[in-house]
Amino acid sequence: MIVRIGGVADAAALAELRDIEAHQVAAFTEWVADHAETYLPFVAEVDGKIIGAAWLLVAERVPGNGSLERRYGDVQSVMVREEHRNQGVGAALMAAILAEARARDLLHVTVHSGRRAVDFYLRNGFSHHRQLLLWEPA
Ligand SMILES: CC(C)(COP(=O)(O)OP(=O)(O)OC[C@H]1O[C@@H](n2cnc3c(N)ncnc32)[C@H](O)[C@@H]1OP(=O)(O)O)[C@@H](O)C(=O)NCCC(=O)NCCS
Repeated sequence: MIVRIGGVADAAALAELRDIEAHQVAAFTEWVADHAETYLPFVAEVDGKIIGAAWLLVAERVPGNGSLERRYGDVQSVMVREEHRNQGVGAALMAAILAEARARDLLHVTVHSGRRAVDFYLRNGFSHHRQLLLWEPA
């Protein structure tokens, strides 16, 4: 298995992992191209087939603290094909994302976990943080 940063050439496989319907794949592909600088898809591949993916949003914070370039990350849409789960693919995707975060000097990386995936993120470098708060519409 290899993990690499994907791109527009992987859009069809990425769309499938997101359950994007066939008639929306072209628009999704356009979205991937338009957001290539900020939404980085990491893909796990076996024999040329994408078996999992995870996205890193690289976003900016307001300049301050002596720096004009303050970026943070947000992990989104982590998905491993069912038949490949529990073999470390998810862990490898997270390791690649956090290596990229370090290389880009991101201030921190957040993730809004699904209910069943909290322990997965805790095991892969994330921790609960009392200063990170969330608002949701009623
Ligand atoms: C969460 C997920 C990405 C983990 O991928 P993976 O390749 O199986 O991950 P790893 O092999 O590195 O780790 C497996 C761990 O994930 C846990 N896991 C398995 N299925 C899971 C599921 N549906 N949801 C959350 N966690 C799950 C397992 O309990 C396992 O923990 P264990 O080692 O204590 O048994 C994968 O299960 C998945 O795609 N789930 C559905 C989508 C999802 O929940 N995504 C995250 C939402 S933010």
